[in-house]
Amino acid sequence: MSVSPRIRGAEIGMTVATRAWLTDPVESGAAAGFGLYLHVPFCHHRCGYCDFATSAVGDRAADDQEALFDRYLAALIHDLHQQVGAGPIAHGPEGEVAPGTPWPQVTSVFVGGGTPTLLGGQRLSRLFAAIRSDLDVAPDAEVTVECNPETASGELFGYLVAAGVDRVSMGAQSFAPHVLATLERGHTPDRPLHAAAQARAAGIAEINLDLIFGTPGETDQDWQDTLAQVLTADIDHVSAYALTIHDNTAFGRAVRDGVMPDVDEDLQRDRFDLASEVLRAGGFEHYEVSNFARGSARRSRHNLLYWRHGDYLAVGVGAHGHLAGRRWWTTRSTTRYLDAIEAGASPVAGDEVLSDDERAEERLLLGLRVREGLHPNDLPPIEPLALEDALGAGLVETACGRLRCTDDGWFLLDEAVARLR
Ligand SMILES: C[S@@+](CC[C@H](N)C(=O)[O-])C[C@H]1O[C@@H](n2cnc3c(N)ncnc32)[C@H](O)[C@@H]1O
Ligand code: SF4
Repeated sequence: MSVSPRIRGAEIGMTVATRAWLTDPVESGAAAGFGLYLHVPFCHHRCGYCDFATSAVGDRAADDQEALFDRYLAALIHDLHQQVGAGPIAHGPEGEVAPGTPWPQVTSVFVGGGTPTLLGGQRLSRLFAAIRSDLDVAPDAEVTVECNPETASGELFGYLVAAGVDRVSMGAQSFAPHVLATLERGHTPDRPLHAAAQARAAGIAEINLDLIFGTPGETDQDWQDTLAQVLTADIDHVSAYALTIHDNTAFGRAVRDGVMPDVDEDLQRDRFDLASEVLRAGGFEHYEVSNFARGSARRSRHNLLYWRHGDYLAVGVGAHGHLAGRRWWTTRSTTRYLDAIEAGASPVAGDEVLSDDERAEERLLLGLRVREGLHPNDLPPIEPLALEDALGAGLVETACGRLRCTDDGWFLLDEAVARLR
């Protein structure tokens, strides 16, 4: 129960930023920019740990695959066109968006998956031409495509550069062969670095590598070697994720059947700390729980948009959009998606309008993921005792006029947020 009046961040001993936080102004909500996410739900093989909206197409005959990709691309472009034509009023909460409001300029585009690069350079070029014809994409927008190492080639990156893609995000996961085998990855340890070099040679300005730590059988030495390999690469960004075991995956079933150990949180904490230490020493900024950039200009603008509670349009299977406090998501079934789009129906599977309290809570949870934390103006009301408790537990701190997580708080983010609410 509350024993003190609820107060705002500005009154809790933080002065409104007298020092700039790093080099950028930090904006949240609509001021954070406007993003476009497009999902491609195909992979050659579904990795045992992955619960993203994707299906394995590797067993299909080549003709069958090509026909499916053509059909999906046509649906994706049609879906985009329909959504853009309907205007923001069709997505915003009732009464919140005025009729005739135009779409904002797009500040980031992210084509994710699945494995978008399975579509090949020509189809992806057609997709980007459609995006640019439907929406006003800012000349300096960040345009990312997720790419599996085994689908990479100089030719593919040539198409992407010509289509205005300036960032690729590649799943390397580990450089230890036995860890890659456990993760059911279809590439050799050296392939991601070779692919990164091909991307750079083709003119891709920013390259991210995804890593996973804490895989069963991975040793401390494996993780150290993986981080050392990353530091030898000419890349700009690293996403390092603790392995999550999802119930509905092959790993989830293996853990339930007792043939795979569950994740060890102490070990994951040690690997998280090692990643932070090694990557920071190697010139990366640890700017979000799982993300590292070579300087603030190399942070992922599209992901920052999510963490800053910005607005984004969602196109494709299993895609999530957000506009002015309303979220919506589409079906995770490719069959249902294709059938809906081809029948002129909506693929949206659900939506919710967040209350002011829910928006404030979400802004807190997302904002604390980022190193810069939250500006007092973006903080929901916090009980002084709750703040004292979270500060005392070493989960949050104030810095540069903002409230942010400590390293402990980052690892225990849910607990940090729970103590503040
Ligand atoms: C949407 S996936 C797409 C990446 C791309 N298809 C690839 O695998 O190269 C993005 C990243 O999420 C991470 N990821 C997926 N499932 C995960 C899990 N269960 N635990 C931790 N990280 C996971 C992986 O690092 C993966 O590269
Ligand atoms: S991790 Fe990447 S390649 Fe593996 S199933 Fe998930 S999306 Fe596909």
